[in-house]
Amino acid sequence: MHVLHLGYPSATAVVLDGGPRVLVDSGYGSDHDRLRAALAGAGVPADTLDLVVNTHWHSDHVGGNARLQAEHGVPVAAAAADAARIAADDPGACGAVRLDQPVERYRVDRPLRPGDHLRAGRADWEVLATPGHTPTHLSLWAPDEGVLLLGDALHADDVGWIDLAADGHGALADALAGVERLATLPVRVAVSGHGPPITDPPRALAAAAERYGRMRDEPVRAAWHACKRILAFALMVRDVPADDLEAYAAGRPWLVDHATRVFATSPGDLARDLVGELRRAGAVGERGGRAVCLTPHRRPPAGWGVAGGRDRWFG
Ligand SMILES: [Fe+2]
Repeated sequence: MHVLHLGYPSATAVVLDGGPRVLVDSGYGSDHDRLRAALAGAGVPADTLDLVVNTHWHSDHVGGNARLQAEHGVPVAAAAADAARIAADDPGACGAVRLDQPVERYRVDRPLRPGDHLRAGRADWEVLATPGHTPTHLSLWAPDEGVLLLGDALHADDVGWIDLAADGHGALADALAGVERLATLPVRVAVSGHGPPITDPPRALAAAAERYGRMRDEPVRAAWHACKRILAFALMVRDVPADDLEAYAAGRPWLVDHATRVFATSPGDLARDLVGELRRAGAVGERGGRAVCLTPHRRPPAGWGVAGGRDRWFG
C-alpha cells in the first residue's frame, strides 16, 4: 500500500498493488500531473491501474477520474446511489454546483454497495457504509490486515464536515454511529483523506466519536465547522477578489441553505460572520487583492475548470 500525500486541493490517495492495482480516490482535477507522478513514483504508473475506487464524490477525491478513464480506460467504482445520480445527469452530482468545485465528467463503471467485497492489492476489502460527510460515503476495510481507508469519515485532527442544511440533522447521528461501528474493528492502520497520518487509530476514532457527539447535541457547531471548511476550500480553487468575498459567500447555495435552515439568519449576515471568523483565525487572508486560503495548497492554473461548459463538467 502506498499513501500518496498530494497536498491541497487534493485529498490523500492510496494505491494498492501486489495484486489488482487499485487507486482509492483520485485527487483534485488540476493536480492530475502530480497524481500521475506520485503513481509512477510508487511503481504503479497510471496506465497500469485496474480500478479507481471513490470513497465519495467530492471534487478533491474524484477529480482524476475523468482523465484516468479517458486516457487509460481505468474503470471507476463508487457508491451505487451516486452512480445512479451521475448516470441520470443529476445537477447535484458531486456537489459541484452547490460547493462551487468543478469536477470533470466521469462515469461510474462499477456501483458499490455496503457489504460488497473487492480484491485490491494483496488484500480482500470490505465496503463499509460510513454516511455523514456525504450520505453515501464509503470506507474500505481489509480485515486480514487490519487496514482501514477512511476517506473523509474522520481525520487525525478533525472530522469530516457535515452539510446539515442539505442532509438534515440525521446526518450527525449517522456519522456518530458510523465511527462507533468503526471503533469496534481491530484497526491496525487507518488512512484518511486529509491531514497528518493517523498514528493511533483507536484514539482517533474515539476522538471523532466524541466530536460528532458534541455536534449532534449542538448542531450549530457542525454547521459552523462545515461552513468554514467549505469556504476555505473554495478559496483554494476559485479566484475571488478580497473585496467581494462576503458577496461571493452570500451567493453560494450551501451558505444560503445554512443561513435559512440552520442559523435562521440572512445569507449576508452569515457571510459577514463567517468571513470575519476565518480572517480572525488566520485561515483566510489576502494576496494581490485576492482572497486566499492560508492553508498551503497549489492553485489550479488560471482558467482551469471553465472550458467546455456542461458537456465537460458536472453541474
Ligand atoms: Fe469530502
